Amino acid sequence: MSDRTRALHPDDLLQVAELENAVQLDPWTRAQVLAIAPMIQTGEYLGAVVEQMGQVQGYVIARTMLDECEILSVGVAHAAQGQGLGKQVLQQLLSQLPAQTSTVHLEVRVSNLPALKLYQALGFIEVGRRKGYYAPTNAVPHREDARLMCKQRRNNQPTETTP
Ligand SMILES: CC(C)(COP(=O)(O)OP(=O)(O)OC[C@H]1O[C@@H](n2cnc3c(N)ncnc32)[C@H](O)[C@@H]1OP(=O)(O)O)[C@@H](O)C(=O)NCCC(=O)NCCS
Repeated sequence: MSDRTRALHPDDLLQVAELENAVQLDPWTRAQVLAIAPMIQTGEYLGAVVEQMGQVQGYVIARTMLDECEILSVGVAHAAQGQGLGKQVLQQLLSQLPAQTSTVHLEVRVSNLPALKLYQALGFIEVGRRKGYYAPTNAVPHREDARLMCKQRRNNQPTETTP
């Protein structure tokens, strides 16, 4: 099946909210997802989607601050997992980051091994833990620690040459 990756557009947010609700343990509400539309327009938030047959099957939402980017949510429809879409959508996001972005951060549940493997495959490394960061959910009925992960990017801006 042919996949198409592209930048997240505000018009995608309804489909993204449905996917978020279907795949995340503690999803953003529909209102929270829709509320980022104006911040996509200003460039503060950005993201990427991957489509199959015109349907959004995977997404990533991130926020930029100065030279940093924080990945806030990543998900792939259950039926489409394990086909490389998570990797594709993250690679698309990384390719869209502003030139001054030097570090990309994210947090992931210590129990989420598929996501951990995906991030490691893309060059993220664990830089710390945040104890009890995640509130209990139906699936994980206790507070859970977060792994803090980051990836350094090569600075794309031209460097000054010294004589
Ligand atoms: C995590 C998630 C986004 C991965 O998406 P995906 O499309 O299934 O992942 P991909 O097929 O692109 O896999 C990329 C790499 O991740 C790893 N991976 C993905 N799923 C895996 C699994 N079930 N077990 C082990 N490794 C896995 C592999 O290293 C894989 O690379 P490989 O195929 O070359 O071995 C997806 O499982 C998901 O939506 N999960 C629910 C929501 C979630 O947990 N989001 C992340 C919150 S931080």
